[in-house]
Amino acid sequence: MTETQTDTAAAGAAAPAEIVELFPEPSRPLSPDELLARYAPPRRSEPWLRVNFIQSVDGSATVDGLSGGLGGPADKAVFDTLRGVADVVLVGAGTARAEGYGALTVGERFVRWRRASGLPEHPAMALVSGRLDLDPASALFAEAPVRPLVFTVASAPADARARLAEVATVIDAGAERVDPSTVLRELAGRGLAQVLCEGGPSLFGELTAAGLVDELCLTTSPMLEGGSGRRIVSAPGEGSSPRDLELGLLLRSGSMLLARWVRPGAHGPDAGRPA
Ligand SMILES: NC(=O)c1ccc[n+]([C@@H]2O[C@H](COP(=O)([O-])OP(=O)(O)OC[C@H]3O[C@@H](n4cnc5c(N)ncnc54)[C@H](OP(=O)(O)O)[C@@H]3O)[C@@H](O)[C@H]2O)c1
Repeated sequence: MTETQTDTAAAGAAAPAEIVELFPEPSRPLSPDELLARYAPPRRSEPWLRVNFIQSVDGSATVDGLSGGLGGPADKAVFDTLRGVADVVLVGAGTARAEGYGALTVGERFVRWRRASGLPEHPAMALVSGRLDLDPASALFAEAPVRPLVFTVASAPADARARLAEVATVIDAGAERVDPSTVLRELAGRGLAQVLCEGGPSLFGELTAAGLVDELCLTTSPMLEGGSGRRIVSAPGEGSSPRDLELGLLLRSGSMLLARWVRPGAHGPDAGRPA
């Protein structure tokens, strides 16, 4: 993920990455609009949790502690597209802190598409934090076009809660741990049904353990990290919680592979494809 990069496609600063579809249609070059159509939710009002990650070929979610070293123009194009079609971007506080999240805005192309689709110009941002170690003066809050949501716990520090409540809507979603089901229920209740989770591994682990993930957008970066970088998921407890997924889409840009993995029986592998 390359949150801190600029939206080059929207700004017209660089040629778009060449992205070719491999599945379901083999060898089909995609335009930016076709890419958007591949990821646009087919049924907006139906709650859907999509998670987006990038990893190296040897399974690392980071290079030197950040995801940016794994990314590239094609991953950035998909990253921007996923934000462009989402109602809300959900992220763990660890990722927001590590990656230096700023205000969530989408590029002009997506603003136009969102207006035409009857959506707010920009998606909302929702954070998950128990400690509330988040700076209310940071751009993430101070420059947000949509008031961010912060999901926290009843035991969160009162002073931090009061400071954040001035710039965000703070919601209790558990006593000691934020309950992921409560988060999704609260978001859906606010009309934010299309949820894009940008991680990180701890939050993804909680969502997976709770059986809430409908889709994983996973970019495989053509790189061996070769170190001790963490996986894209950290389980909250012992043991594993295996879930079957179906391949919905596979794109290639150079040697980078970008896949959509979908929960079987949900929207099905053709979700997001134009009629
Ligand atoms: N490769 C990729 O695509 C990708 C994507 C995202 C992140 N990353 C990398 O992942 C690393 C960050 O990992 P991370 O596991 O720390 O990220 P994270 O899951 O974003 O953040 C963990 C933090 O989120 C809060 N949190 C998560 N679940 C919670 C719950 N149920 N209840 C209460 N609080 C909860 C806690 O915040 P508090 O500490 O504030 O209580 C916790 O410390 C960074 O190196 C980042 O670069 C990689």
